[in-house]
Amino acid sequence: MTSKQLSEALRVGTVVVPAAGMGTRFLPATKTVPKELLPVVDTPGIELIAEEAAAVGADRLAIITAPNKQEVMRHFEAFPDLVETLEARGKESQSAKVKRAHSLLNPIAVEQDKPLGLGHAVGLAESVLAEDEEFFGVMLPDDIVLPMTAMTAMTAMTAMTAMTAMTAMEQMVAVRDKLGGSVLLAVEVPREQTFNYGVFDIQDTDDESVKKVVGMVEKPDPADAPSNLVATGRYVLDRKIFDALRRITPGKGGELQLTDAIELLIQEGEPVHVVVHQGTRHDLGNPGGYIPANVDFGLKSDVYGPALYTQLKKIIADYEAEKGLS
Ligand code: G1P
Repeated sequence: MTSKQLSEALRVGTVVVPAAGMGTRFLPATKTVPKELLPVVDTPGIELIAEEAAAVGADRLAIITAPNKQEVMRHFEAFPDLVETLEARGKESQSAKVKRAHSLLNPIAVEQDKPLGLGHAVGLAESVLAEDEEFFGVMLPDDIVLPMTAMTAMTAMTAMTAMTAMTAMEQMVAVRDKLGGSVLLAVEVPREQTFNYGVFDIQDTDDESVKKVVGMVEKPDPADAPSNLVATGRYVLDRKIFDALRRITPGKGGELQLTDAIELLIQEGEPVHVVVHQGTRHDLGNPGGYIPANVDFGLKSDVYGPALYTQLKKIIADYEAEKGLS
């Protein structure tokens, strides 16, 4: 089955994007610019997420936003005057860039008045789902998971395997179709970093890249972490999560944790699996991850890649000479 056929058969209708955070790790930039609008090369993180959501067939993007972050929604408007000006000046490629976000899908703002946690944010999206929508996606905009679209998945593959190339979300939806319940994306991290993540207790399945989740714990002490497989910002959730979210109490950090609602579903016998991600992942949530993401996307850009490669080599050579590393 090609990824195109797959997305038609197993389409995600709604993708929820929690985007109400304060972006404190990006101060002072985030005094006036929401973190989700900071660009990777030239495209804001929120637009990359919208592209990835559209690639799994989503037509609704439920953006959970804070009262002071209206600019995130503005990014999806049509900007007719700007388009007209650019087109009158023959700047077609720039006008296409302006139009892209508006044409991808339908963004719906859901306001979160108070920062009560990721679980609370996801719970607010229930009203956006259609009545017959049995599952939905969640994409955390801090996490960039590559490849993002089937097209880039295919260019990353050899001709032999290109027909089956799938993005992480597509694989997760396929696993949900086969095994039911909820499916999350996992990556391996060094054990000492597990305190930053939701950590999975897993059992093998007959598919090497799919594990059954028998427990999940939010940001444990590394000594107590059940594994070094952690949640990385992509979720395909059964609608039952909303009921579980209503029943949890504040957990780690005094917040309502999505992890705790997933753990509740597991305890009640609902199927939860992870797809173990083998591709690249970037953390746009802090400058230490944002900078390499820009270097990676920059190097892959036809426009900026060749010159950036030359500049980076010089910067690295200078750095090595200065630090006595060469
Ligand atoms: C959230 C989740 C955590 C997950 C992480 C992935 O934490 O609560 O389970 O592993 O995203 O990025 P946050 O990074 O928002 O603290």
